[in-house]
Amino acid sequence: MSNYHIKHLEEYFQVYRKSVREPEKFWEEIAEEHFLWRKKWDSVLKWDFKTPEVTWFEGAKLNITENCIDRHLATRGDKTAILFEPNDPKDPAEHITYRQLYERVNQFANVLKAEGVKKGDRVCIYVPMIPELAISILACARIGAIHSVVFAGFSATALSTRINDSDCKLVITSDGSYRGAKTIDLKGIVDEALDSCPGVLTVLVAKRIQSDIVMKDGRDKWLQPLLDAASKEGDAEIMDAEDPLFILYTSGSTGQPKGMVHTTAGYMVYTAYTFKNAFQYRENDVYWCTADIGWITGHSYIVYGPLANGATTVLFEGVPSYPDYGRFWDVVQKHKVSQFYTAPTAIRALAKQGAEIIENYDLSSLKVLGTVGEPINEEAWHWYNENVGKGKSPIIDTWWQTENGGIMITPIPYVTPTKPTYATLPFIGIQPALMGDNGEELIGNQVEGRLCIKFPWPSIARTIWGDHKRYKETYFTAYENMYFTGDGALRDEVGYYRITGRVDDVIIVSGHNLGTAPIEDAINEHPAVAESAIVGFPHDIKGSALYAYVTLKDVGESRDHSNLKKEINQLISDRIGAIAKLEKIQFTSGLPKTRSGKIMRRILRKIAEKDTSNLGDTSTLLNPECVEEIIKNAL
Ligand code: PRX
Repeated sequence: MSNYHIKHLEEYFQVYRKSVREPEKFWEEIAEEHFLWRKKWDSVLKWDFKTPEVTWFEGAKLNITENCIDRHLATRGDKTAILFEPNDPKDPAEHITYRQLYERVNQFANVLKAEGVKKGDRVCIYVPMIPELAISILACARIGAIHSVVFAGFSATALSTRINDSDCKLVITSDGSYRGAKTIDLKGIVDEALDSCPGVLTVLVAKRIQSDIVMKDGRDKWLQPLLDAASKEGDAEIMDAEDPLFILYTSGSTGQPKGMVHTTAGYMVYTAYTFKNAFQYRENDVYWCTADIGWITGHSYIVYGPLANGATTVLFEGVPSYPDYGRFWDVVQKHKVSQFYTAPTAIRALAKQGAEIIENYDLSSLKVLGTVGEPINEEAWHWYNENVGKGKSPIIDTWWQTENGGIMITPIPYVTPTKPTYATLPFIGIQPALMGDNGEELIGNQVEGRLCIKFPWPSIARTIWGDHKRYKETYFTAYENMYFTGDGALRDEVGYYRITGRVDDVIIVSGHNLGTAPIEDAINEHPAVAESAIVGFPHDIKGSALYAYVTLKDVGESRDHSNLKKEINQLISDRIGAIAKLEKIQFTSGLPKTRSGKIMRRILRKIAEKDTSNLGDTSTLLNPECVEEIIKNAL
């Protein structure tokens, strides 16, 4: 018997030991007993972190949607699979049962097939948080097409870059989206993006906001009539275990976004198993993750993980502040949510509004509170624990990454004693290592270093779409035979992990990963700008915010800086999206550089953090004089 559901600490340690000593046997048992296979595997695991190459369950045949939908029909056909809570609380919530989901996914899959989409083709999904988003993802998986969801807050340029990188032929979108009291013209953004995507032949458009939009003849089609005419039945394409399931882009510290490729069987097994345990999900629970499906959290823990367990998963279209700051709690009360999974930035924003708002709502259904996306500060942790959890619902601080596919370090609620700001213990099967400055593994407790993982887990991303070399260089060259996370971490006296933050040039703003290079590129596009450097600095709500140091081409000319700031932020909004807007922009006559011409971000970071007491040795700089000027004019 496999240990699919861990219920106490001793069992955790026992299962963890087994998963490390006999990983293949362990995962084989989990896979065998809890999933539907068309054919079993020939080998459980093959791996080599040098090449790097990892395969799980090679030779197996399956379709993930049969696991997420079909196999539940006999026992859970009338159970709500997706509970859609719309932007406006006055609009009714929609309960989509497993049977209805089966029919709607088949209809959508049949539409895609009729549009010529085949196994292995890439489909770009740029859809807001409405049922069509989850359904289109599952429809792609049903026919073996590789979905590439782009968060529907990204700009036209960001969208076109992603469409072209993975050569998508078809785009799914909606006429527009709601965001609190506002509407967003999504179709307009798609039209602009597609001006530079000659490979896209078809756009399927869902109706959401009933706005007047332009439909391009021969390319754009309304989705609903096609769905209405399509059959509600359809066979799932039989996939190989290692066939790609989806591509999801994440920011790197340099260059283009990285299209992380996740494959089918390992991803399914790991997301399902982590979902069951990290959230202690039980049959009649209502589970709610507030993330957008456009991020990995939504892929793994709104769609695949919950549905693979036959769970009821809430899909929330709205924002925490609309119509007021009680919205989250209103949804929890209304749907009797048992597990609530959100980001520290949302907790901080809500905490700022005061705890009184919460008192108007009955939150007694809550059993587990989760956070993800960035380190949670002590104050936010306590606020969440006391006011939302009333000291009774354990907080799981889950650490993981787009590249990981599923939760990697987390307390198991009611099993692992929690500790504020600590992600605590590795999940089953995960073997973390902390590395020191000389590339050595730091053994024992009470150490701090760079976080690596020593052994493959089933849902590790297999490559970067079209760029295996970059995959190797980014994750597998810093330390031999290790996956390098890019994060720093410490291990306390009992072996609990605390993630201290990024050690590279990625900045996490409101839980969103932002690479410095693409933002600097956008700033540098402004004709008046000579050069720029971005660093992060602490922010009450966003965790970190962006501080830009900008040098101008014509220093002698006096300019209206407030206009310039607006123009620079507009450029960033256009190139990347509003999430990358700069909090502070400081104009300066120079940027501190090493003699080889590299910008010394360390110094700029300290200045932005208002910590100039110990800037280190600046004498080796090419231009030490600019440091003084920057400090003097710091914002
Ligand atoms: O720095 C870590 C931070 O978010 C990064 C991964 O971001 P992304 O790929 O967008 O995935 C986020 C959702 C899975 C990590 O390298 N991070 C994520 N969770 C935590 C965290 N930092 C501290 N504590 C966490 N719980």
